[in-house]
Amino acid sequence: MNTYTVSQLLAKDQFGLEIEIKGWVRTFRANRFIALNDGSTINNIQCVVDFENTSEETLKRITTGAAVHIKGELVESQGKGQKVEVAVTSIEILGDSDPETYPIQPKKHSFEFLRENAHLRTRTNTFSAVMRLRSSLSFAIHKYFNENGFYYMHTPIITGSDAEGAGEMFRVTNLDAENPPLTEDGKVDFKEDFFGNETNLTVSGQLEAETYAMSLGKVYTFGPTFRAENSNTSRHLSEFWMIEPEVAFMDLAGNMDLAEDFMKSVLSYILENNREDLEFLEKRLLDEEKTKPQAERSEMSLIEKLKFVIDNNFKRVSYTEAIDILKNSKPNKKKKFNYIIKEWGADLQSEHERFLVEKHFKCPVILFDYPANIKAFYMRLNEDGRTVRAMDILFPGIGEMVGGSQREERLEVLKEKMAALDIPEEELWWYLDLRKYGTAVHSGFGLGFERLVMFATGMTNIRDVIPYPRTPQNAEF
Ligand code: 4AD
Ligand code: MG
Repeated sequence: MNTYTVSQLLAKDQFGLEIEIKGWVRTFRANRFIALNDGSTINNIQCVVDFENTSEETLKRITTGAAVHIKGELVESQGKGQKVEVAVTSIEILGDSDPETYPIQPKKHSFEFLRENAHLRTRTNTFSAVMRLRSSLSFAIHKYFNENGFYYMHTPIITGSDAEGAGEMFRVTNLDAENPPLTEDGKVDFKEDFFGNETNLTVSGQLEAETYAMSLGKVYTFGPTFRAENSNTSRHLSEFWMIEPEVAFMDLAGNMDLAEDFMKSVLSYILENNREDLEFLEKRLLDEEKTKPQAERSEMSLIEKLKFVIDNNFKRVSYTEAIDILKNSKPNKKKKFNYIIKEWGADLQSEHERFLVEKHFKCPVILFDYPANIKAFYMRLNEDGRTVRAMDILFPGIGEMVGGSQREERLEVLKEKMAALDIPEEELWWYLDLRKYGTAVHSGFGLGFERLVMFATGMTNIRDVIPYPRTPQNAEF
């Protein structure tokens, strides 16, 4: 007898085949019909229990959430919607689930409730679909880079450098809390944090990735990233995963081409390989849309949105053009697109980004050539002396998905920039070395993985696309 997954069994048509299967009971109806799920697919397989030959005691223990081991025969299904079902010959309860206390009842639960039960929420259709898609997207990302000649590089998690120069770092320390080393004026000496060095959790692997790009040519990182910003929004996490490719001899235009091709490729991968999960999530969203007034409903379904991104060019617009568009448009009275007009030089807020992407262009937008003073120190200064070769990719419904740039490859210009921002050269001597020895044009970007998963699944809160979200309010699990 062979052990199969639900996904394998549903694809078979060998009636009479003797099989074994293990999984969790989703529902048990009429003392007869088990809907069994094992995580291999969004679908359940129906297992029909011969209740006359099964003990009362066993029947009572077949409850929602219980783990079971079933032996039986694959038979043609009498019900609609499924080709096959299992005629159970024996059932063993591997793990009971008390129906009085089991949190995941067979009914609709709110996402807030499920967040509090993050350890069990993948036993629901929505969260199992989202996490299978998350897994597939990770695979597609590695596949893309592997097929395009990139090396996968692991950058340090504990680091002394602040790659973004924004100071949003979690300190890492092994100081004795009771008896910390003190500075001359009696304060805790953070310089001693980590066996004599000041360290923090990485906010980006970019600077280290640059060093490898300048020897291996094309590299990427894909790892956990930490930001100590106190942002309680549906798009920010304290711990998230970032994908950062970095390529030698590539300029900003090449960086845009790479980002666009990469995103289209990974989204195509899930359209081809995760159809059932996407269709399930699409239907969930359509049902949700029906509860909204007509005017607020989305014009495209989830799968249509994915196809739209894959089939259409991203719009490339300079920061200066974007400011002109914002100035010449009337902010809509409807709250969503109501923004305060900005002068050239100001950073864009999410209302501005939403207006550009969702109202004006209605497609993904690559904004480039930002004012130097609102972007990080390492970006390549343009010939105008006031803008840098930066790019942000904005997505409808998400906002900023990607941040990247061509890097400043000229030693003297980089030193001046660091001096102006009070970044000590001693801290980044190794980074400056790259500009001393064999410097060259190079570029890269960072894509927030959870924001990509949000777009791909239609989930609207970032806490619902990562297994155990860490936010300023929650790091319980
Ligand atoms: O724009 P950011 O800060 O860029 C960098 O870190 C560069 N060093 C990347 C590079 O050029 N190699 O972050 C990149 C992306 C953002 O566009 C966003 O998608 C995501 O990372 N991100 C976050 N995602 C979730 N929670 C947060 N707190 C995030 N902060 C940034
Ligand atoms: Mg950014």
